[in-house]
Amino acid sequence: MFRFIFAIMLGFISFQGFADDRKIEFILKNGDQVIFEKSLGIDRMKTSAAPRSLSFQSPVYKKPMTYNGLDFKDVAASAGVDFSKVEEIKFVALDGFVASWSKGTTKSPLVVVTDEKGNPNGFTDIGEGKETLNPGPFYVMTTDPNEYNNWIWPFQVYKIEFNYQAPKPDYYPTGAEDKPIIMAGYVAFKSTCISCHSINLEGGDIGPELNIPKNITEYRDKEYLKAFIKNPNSYRAKSRMLKFEHLSDQQLNEIIEYMAYMGSLKMLDKINE
Ligand code: HEC
Repeated sequence: MFRFIFAIMLGFISFQGFADDRKIEFILKNGDQVIFEKSLGIDRMKTSAAPRSLSFQSPVYKKPMTYNGLDFKDVAASAGVDFSKVEEIKFVALDGFVASWSKGTTKSPLVVVTDEKGNPNGFTDIGEGKETLNPGPFYVMTTDPNEYNNWIWPFQVYKIEFNYQAPKPDYYPTGAEDKPIIMAGYVAFKSTCISCHSINLEGGDIGPELNIPKNITEYRDKEYLKAFIKNPNSYRAKSRMLKFEHLSDQQLNEIIEYMAYMGSLKMLDKINE
């Protein structure tokens, strides 16, 4: 009886009490071949992953935030993934947002963020476009907040797909391997834009397709693109596209050169598929 009461009290005072039935679905692939699919509960992850705590000035809430989380490599290991062999990871969010991570995207380790310290509801709602939503079940952040410029932390993550052999996507700039500006633009686009935009119909679908049938640079000029990418709200109130004010002129040029280059690799057949 005493243990029963104790368990109820724990459930009340701690967000991570017995009622926490959150899970992550894991998929491990080698190219197109699926090695396994499994789902792991948070309790199970907590028994094998080292706890991590993150404190920083949040670019989302614009105030200091402290989070509890779990070491990402440990979480991957508990799912049976050999992290040293992973070439690409896709973080899938409840609304269909897919954040891609590949080797080199971030320099600091990743953390699976489980809740805000001291918040009994787990996470504080955030505004997105004209709506508000809760960032749970999980965020995936980097341990160095300055890396927010290289990689946007995905929230509402419920599924993580690891790949030991990343296939070249349809937005890969074939033939530009010796053009550093285009390759740099590709890497930046892949880590910050592809989660919402598709090129040749591969990528996210929160924002518009940017290559077929017309490449974005065929109907929008460079100065407009730079200003829009830096601050979409200066054109369209409450745009669902994030601001990219921190991108330098050079980074914007690289991204635009990459987008323009893709105009020479249009996969028009995909429109009627
Ligand atoms: C969170 C999702 C999201 C991310 C990330 C995102 N976009 Fe967008 N983007 C959108 C949406 C949604 C629109 C449609 C804008 C609107 O109607 O307000 C859009 C519109 C655009 C347009 C079209 C503008 C026009 O006038 O037709 C361009 C170009 C663009 N985005 C480029 C980018 C680039 C480059 C990046 C990466 C640096 C990026 N976007 C990242 C969601 C996103």
